[in-house]
Amino acid sequence: MKDKKTIIHNSVNNEAVTVKGHRLSDIVEFNEKGVKALLEGKVIGNSIVFFDSVVSTNDEAKNMGFDGAREGSVVVALKQTGGRGSKGRSWLSCDGEGIFCSVITRPKIAFSDVPVITLIAGLSVCRALRKVTKTDALIKWPNDIVINGKKICGILSESYTAGEGMDFVVTGIGINCDNEKFEGELETIATSVMIETGEKINKAYLLAEVLNEFEKDYFAFIKYGFEAMYDEYKALSAVIGKNVRINGAESYYAEAVDIKKSGELVVKADGKERTVYANEVSLRF
Ligand code: BTN
Repeated sequence: MKDKKTIIHNSVNNEAVTVKGHRLSDIVEFNEKGVKALLEGKVIGNSIVFFDSVVSTNDEAKNMGFDGAREGSVVVALKQTGGRGSKGRSWLSCDGEGIFCSVITRPKIAFSDVPVITLIAGLSVCRALRKVTKTDALIKWPNDIVINGKKICGILSESYTAGEGMDFVVTGIGINCDNEKFEGELETIATSVMIETGEKINKAYLLAEVLNEFEKDYFAFIKYGFEAMYDEYKALSAVIGKNVRINGAESYYAEAVDIKKSGELVVKADGKERTVYANEVSLRF
């Protein structure tokens, strides 16, 4: 007879499976135990710390990283009072409405390759969202996941050094889950699992799936480089072939034509190809 853990493990995408007459979504809670029961890998999620409220899970993870936290340690919060987005923006982090988590990794890569970790995490989240929510999630280079053109997830990778070279990377992932609507300027640009599917997702399933996918993608990247997932990444791109506005030191309209194997975006403006670096621009379409 299968034990309870095996049944849960096999059922991430099968809500019909029951344990002792209970639907799995009712028994797998969004806490450390619930998420851990669904993990398949050995490293990512080996330690998961849940908080009711923090300023930012990226800040908690940074402190844990400097205190020597192991590769794969994960920080999750039900609420952030100062959730941070890229380019100094804030990240809406209302109580219980989303997944706010940060993963610590210790890759032996150059600082210049850190932006690729953001791309890899984006691919992992995109795949997990497609699988669990059955939506057509796509990756908006470099750090957004979008559904029907609206942002459902943002990723913020930050790297730290304790001396020479890079010590660790914190990859912060924010996924809008239960938000019924967005207000103000977010109304036209943000979406959530609830808005897209009309259903309240089990956040333990979704987070476990994100961490399971990240375990595969991260170690494939460490072993083989971004090439290992390059074709899939491009196939899931929301920007290739689109007209985009590049906002950086210079602002201009261009056609996004490719993503390099080193992770940069290639655009065409005024007949000329230009390389766009993730940390230098924001992109609108
Ligand atoms: C962006 O799209 O601007 C990036 C958003 C990143 C948000 C996540 S939520 C968990 C982690 N903690 C933070 O303060 N930020 C990231």
